[in-house]
Amino acid sequence: MREKLQKILDAARREISSTERGDYESLRVKYLGRKSELSLLLRQLGSLSPAEKITLGSLGNQIKSEITGLLEQLKQLPVEGPLKNFDPTIPGITQELGRLHPITQTTNELIDIFQGLGYDVATGPEVELEKYNFDMLNIPADHPARDQWDTFWVKQVDGAPDNVLLRTHTSPVQIRYMLEHKPPIRIIVPGRTFRYEAEDATHASVFYQLEGLLIDKGITVANLKATLQTMMHQIIGPDVKIRLRPSFFPFTEPSFEMDIWFQGKWLELMGCGMVHPVVLKNGGIDPEKYSGFAFGVGIDRLVMLKYNIKDIRYFLSGNLDFLEQF
Ligand code: DAH
Repeated sequence: MREKLQKILDAARREISSTERGDYESLRVKYLGRKSELSLLLRQLGSLSPAEKITLGSLGNQIKSEITGLLEQLKQLPVEGPLKNFDPTIPGITQELGRLHPITQTTNELIDIFQGLGYDVATGPEVELEKYNFDMLNIPADHPARDQWDTFWVKQVDGAPDNVLLRTHTSPVQIRYMLEHKPPIRIIVPGRTFRYEAEDATHASVFYQLEGLLIDKGITVANLKATLQTMMHQIIGPDVKIRLRPSFFPFTEPSFEMDIWFQGKWLELMGCGMVHPVVLKNGGIDPEKYSGFAFGVGIDRLVMLKYNIKDIRYFLSGNLDFLEQF
């Protein structure tokens, strides 16, 4: 009887360890079921002498618990193959879809429009050097035009050669790009910009701009106007009217504000102009040979117009009730 018990244990060890999860139930019946060899043997214990009953009984129980342990391990194995134990009638788990932020959506639309016109997308650092953000754009340190931009300065380590700030506009990328590329140049620069603002419904300290820059031979205001008209038609609608109004920016000459006719009135939307000869020179381009135009538009403003949003602060609020509408 001792040998028979040992044989059962050996067979169980061999078979259970070399099988897969799906066979659990049949192996359980085979080794531990009511009609299993082990159960039948243990039932015969009654006819043995009291001493044998004790030793063989406890051996039998040891074997039973070892087999139970082996089966338990088998049960923990992952089910093999994708369709084993798969019930196609159980309802699935729906995965909620995310979406792009409205600013990102409109930025992507603008990129599409300008790529269609042959523009490349350029980027620059959000933490910028004073010389690119101001000086080389023809805004020297003591120029009153600097007061237009309320700036976040980055604290400098002693001895650092340049002043560092959070860029107040995307215009510094004009200089960076000109220094690395020869004309013809056709770029847009979408990106995040920063100003020290007392925030309200129309002013945020963190906002988004799209800069445009085109430089080639013989470029005039007519090219600028046609480009802006195309852009506004595509982003707002084919009925939108635009006008250019004289204005001032240190980096353009002449400079304009572009207004659009929207819901019965003229709305100021962006600054633009012909790139100032000093700016071209600072970018390593000969203003006698080349001319160009530039513009800068607040993407937040565009999105607010498009969807009739009344408060710019929604954009960075993380408010899902707001975001889920887009
Ligand atoms: N950088 C200007 C601003 O943030 C906007 C701007 C105006 C950009 C005229 C231009 C431009 O490129 O030509 O206020």
